[in-house]
Amino acid sequence: MLNYSPAVRPLPVELRAEIIGVDQVVPLLDGRQVPYVNLDNAASTPSLRCVKEKMDEVLDYYSSVHRGSGFKSLLSTQLYEEAREIVIDFVSADREKDVVVFCKNTTEALNKLANRFPFQSGDIVLTTGMEHHSNDLPWRARAQVIHAGLCSDGSLDMEDFQANLEKYSGKIKLVAVTGASNVTGFMPPIFDIAEMAHRHGAKIVVDCAQLLPHRSIDMQPFDSPHHLDFIAFSAHKVYAPLGSGALIGPREFFNQGDPDYVGGGTVEIVTLDEVVWTSAPEREEAGSPNVIGAIGLAASLKFLSQVGMDAIAAHENELTHYALTKLRAIKGITLFGSTDVNNLEKRVGVIPFQVDGIPHGMASSILGFEGGVGVRSGCFCAHPYVLHLLKVDDETYRLYHARVLEHNRSELPGLIRVSFGCYNNYSDVDRLVEMLERIVRRDYVGDYIEEACSGSYFPRGFNPHSVREYFSCSG
Ligand SMILES: Cc1ncc(COP(=O)(O)O)c(C=O)c1O
Repeated sequence: MLNYSPAVRPLPVELRAEIIGVDQVVPLLDGRQVPYVNLDNAASTPSLRCVKEKMDEVLDYYSSVHRGSGFKSLLSTQLYEEAREIVIDFVSADREKDVVVFCKNTTEALNKLANRFPFQSGDIVLTTGMEHHSNDLPWRARAQVIHAGLCSDGSLDMEDFQANLEKYSGKIKLVAVTGASNVTGFMPPIFDIAEMAHRHGAKIVVDCAQLLPHRSIDMQPFDSPHHLDFIAFSAHKVYAPLGSGALIGPREFFNQGDPDYVGGGTVEIVTLDEVVWTSAPEREEAGSPNVIGAIGLAASLKFLSQVGMDAIAAHENELTHYALTKLRAIKGITLFGSTDVNNLEKRVGVIPFQVDGIPHGMASSILGFEGGVGVRSGCFCAHPYVLHLLKVDDETYRLYHARVLEHNRSELPGLIRVSFGCYNNYSDVDRLVEMLERIVRRDYVGDYIEEACSGSYFPRGFNPHSVREYFSCSG
């Protein structure tokens, strides 16, 4: 049983000090400077210090991989290939049977799988209504897509999921499901879903963009019914910089068919009349890869393994419990998704809400400009899911639709989202809560104006160009 009292469970190591820029001071509208509170980790996490150190160290020796004969090339190749092994081990994939294909992010990884999956006419992808667009639109381009229904709290309706599997059994070739929602934090039961998918002859891909930073992932052995056939994720959501990610799946799968992107690095031999593709993973990584990005991702995963994903999950669960309890007590805040503080095992620390009577974009701007609290608002690249949570009817949707086509994004529906990282602490939540208590009392000073084309709010008098002062021109 977890003990949720804030005082008793310290972090396993002083994680906060390992995060770059964690106490970076930022200006507020009233002229004060305060340490930034980042509660937008579901978008991108800050980087770990050890990741930066590793990348800096490698830059001294960095060179092209695979085809160079010089010492630096050999060293870079070795580090790049070691990075694959670290990634494989982190998710308990099979070193022999699986490959890590480095991509630039989850979106690219899922598009790659959609392009490479041998869909035939009439094939179906079964996904859910809670997906990020990156785990929905790539399938729509390649197959018929069925979206399993949702319950009113935003959780997956497993009966509907099962009914769809049975109805379209044999036609469903792939089940595409998120490991954790980027809107409500809800975690579908991926291993049960894998077993159900396999029973109906389908493969499964799990979008692990939001799961990887918060829970240990075990892809399970190939002969297990719970085996995850493919997973995808991004480095920038797991404490390494933007620009790197991975698609993991069976070597045999990627060795069949033609790569989706072709060019340098993907071939054994080329004549004017013939091309012989090389083996996976190289055949899937056309062009010069992001060597430093892959090494940074691996450094982060190595660090997180040492900390222990279970310890991170326990800490984030406590923080979520603390935040939900406090937010539930504020009159004037409406929470979405599950608000059950005693049932945190099925979610990660992502909490969506609205401030009654204040547009989501404005409330999130006040949090930033007057509290130094970074959150996100809107529909989070999961429009169908947010419309479901907000119970937007067809007629209202059509009004929004017309407005967006006129490049007017004012007053669009949306939510505010706070999302925790492993380094957040109780005082971060306290700052959020203190600010929200002020906002519900209308105790803020800015005169917030909505920019119609973007739907963003800025306090009158704010000069967006002033942010340039933070960086020198010489870089
Ligand atoms: C659940 C989920 N899937 C996919 C993505 C896409 O990730 P990326 O932008 O790194 O490709 C995101 C990004 O927020 C996400 O939250």
